[in-house]
Amino acid sequence: MKKIFTIAAVLFLAGNMLAQKTKENNIDKMIEKLTLEEKINIVVGVGFNMPGITPESEMIEEKVPGAAGHSFAINRINLPTTVLADGPAGVRITPERPNDDKTYYATAFPIASLMASTWDTALMQEVGQAFGNESKEYGVDILLAPALNIHRHPLTGRNFEYYSEDPVVSGKMAAAFVRGVQSEGVGTSIKHFVANNQETNRTTVNAIISERALREIYLKGFEIAVKEAQPWTVMSSYNKINGVYASQRHDLLTSILRGEWGFEGFVMTDWFAGDDAVAQMKAGNDLLMPGIEKQREAIKSAIEDGSLSMEILDQNIGRILNIYTQTLSYKGYKPTGNPDLENHKELARKAAAQGIILLDNKDNTLPLNKNNKTALFGVASYETLIGGTGSGDVNNASEVSLFEGSQNNEMNIDENLANTYLEYIKIGKENLPPKTFFMAPDQQVSEKDWTPEEVNQIAERTELAVYTIGRTSGEFQDRKVENDFLLNDKELNTIKLLSKAYHSRGKKLVVILNIGGVIETASWKELADAILLAWQPGQEAGNAITDVLTGKVNPSGKLTMTFPVNYEDHKSSENFPGREFDLPPVGNISFMEAKPAEVKYEEGIFVGYRHFETNKVKTSYPFGYGLSYTTFDYSKLKVKEKSGGYEVSCTIKNTGSTPGKEVVQLYISAPQGDLQKPVRELKAFHKTGLLQPGEKETITFSLSKYDLASYHTKKSAWIAETGTYKIQIGASVEEINLEESIALACFIHKPQIYQNFRLA
Ligand code: BGC
Repeated sequence: MKKIFTIAAVLFLAGNMLAQKTKENNIDKMIEKLTLEEKINIVVGVGFNMPGITPESEMIEEKVPGAAGHSFAINRINLPTTVLADGPAGVRITPERPNDDKTYYATAFPIASLMASTWDTALMQEVGQAFGNESKEYGVDILLAPALNIHRHPLTGRNFEYYSEDPVVSGKMAAAFVRGVQSEGVGTSIKHFVANNQETNRTTVNAIISERALREIYLKGFEIAVKEAQPWTVMSSYNKINGVYASQRHDLLTSILRGEWGFEGFVMTDWFAGDDAVAQMKAGNDLLMPGIEKQREAIKSAIEDGSLSMEILDQNIGRILNIYTQTLSYKGYKPTGNPDLENHKELARKAAAQGIILLDNKDNTLPLNKNNKTALFGVASYETLIGGTGSGDVNNASEVSLFEGSQNNEMNIDENLANTYLEYIKIGKENLPPKTFFMAPDQQVSEKDWTPEEVNQIAERTELAVYTIGRTSGEFQDRKVENDFLLNDKELNTIKLLSKAYHSRGKKLVVILNIGGVIETASWKELADAILLAWQPGQEAGNAITDVLTGKVNPSGKLTMTFPVNYEDHKSSENFPGREFDLPPVGNISFMEAKPAEVKYEEGIFVGYRHFETNKVKTSYPFGYGLSYTTFDYSKLKVKEKSGGYEVSCTIKNTGSTPGKEVVQLYISAPQGDLQKPVRELKAFHKTGLLQPGEKETITFSLSKYDLASYHTKKSAWIAETGTYKIQIGASVEEINLEESIALACFIHKPQIYQNFRLA
């Protein structure tokens, strides 16, 4: 028996090696057959239809309408078009196709910030697989997701598409998502590599960052995702880093990404990024998207005059073909047009409810009693925002508002008030100005004003008030302070009126935050009895929110970013969004033009909680925080040394009376030595299963010495200095429940330095 297995294993290995060899040979052969024009058509995409911008005569034929990118088909080598589509909250394509009765609506899943708030990598992988299934059945080969830039500042317009202010959360979530999508035979593109941390002048801004901060904060998540999940592609970012466009940096795209981390796929630009196609080729930015004529011409003349070698061009083509020959299109898969939308709807609801965060819950206000008459206030209770705008938007078939969800969950809602809002919204919508630009944020109906008399009347006839505050944001714009980070006057006034009217009658007020990014909460939170951070929860919004409100689901989401008292409390506020130079705007296409600008990341590694904890700045809600309808006890911390690191275990017990899940966080508090260290840094996390009252779960974390190291720029090495390190296990960065010290002798990891290395 054993022998048969051995023979089978040998044959399998030999077969595999042969397949690899054949593949390589095939790709070399494919390249040999190509003309220069065809070669250029492999490294430059076919272009992009921009509604209202691209003239009718220049519209390209799209294999999948609405997909952000297509590659050229080259029939002589049997290479079909590869289809690339956004994005992080669902497959972004046009739902209708010419001469086709079928519809191609995709599931709008919760935004990335909500998904990260689940801290559940298994759930993330399951969601990723659903994205993979929809991509596959709708004809998309490579999904332009996940996006994992760091929440450097709370006002960044695209934070909703990103996971966290912490690189370990970002990297682990991205890796799980990539594994899920790619398990369906669909590729991913982890983006935007790297330091695309603002929308203001995003295509021109020069981000000035120390090498230590780059490596420990901004690159770390990408490093984790590449090493753990090997995404098929990486999308380089628009911005410059220390003077050079990210898409033109050999050190980043070749030395670090491939040399140090072992990335095996290809790199593509973000849409219209950079200013030098030849430099992009040389840096190892294999594919230029969506592709413009000027880039084709530049590459052609550089090959002709010898300033770009054919070896480099062929190397880039080889990397692209290596992936293209693995796509479903290449393999001849016929998309059915029928992904499992029904199951995905359920999954979207489940995922949303797992990432909703209970921020406050005085006197067990929640879960609410379904039979008590509830007054639903706020436009967003009826027009619930399911996601952000721009390329992170999704064309979904249906969506459930909080009001509709409350009906589905059989809550007792004050209909009179509901009708007043529905009528107000209907009229408000009729008066909204039309969209001027295809990527412009959606216009929203402004909040309704209330008088004290009106509110008192409603408070008299209802038991509870639920007030929803909505915010949207998206690509092209960072958020503002007034009427965005801060509540506007109408919102503040409504909270005050509701608080007074309901509290004076011994009744309660619940505030729901239907937002994509952090807002100010410190000045008004005491007026509410419970606050639920629902994020933008995807198409099943209303169902998921009411699942949590009614206690069908016990909240278990926790913050992956800090909610500050004032946004200026973030160290990065001193340099956000940087300064713009008085120079003419530049860019590859008119609507992407921006003035040259620069931003200094003077805070270094002190981003988010690393700053708040180290410099003892008070927060409104700290990183890692979130309440539950039950309570947990932490015990039995054990630390064992094992080769190359440590094994850490602890036990979590549900000590309350409701089943619930806990997000357990492992932090390291390192000694101060040559390198300044934050008070503590997250190194690992785990979400428990659903623990019944009294039930326990023992969790084991694995920690390597490399995980404890910081980047020492002068020594060009990752170093964990000699000293005592505290392993801290907690329920948030400010609630450490268990601690044990370990003594470490200096650990050094020196990355191999590749040619042309010049990150600083
Ligand atoms: C965005 C990317 C997106 C691409 C294609 C760009 O503007 O930054 O995230 O994948 O467009 O739509």
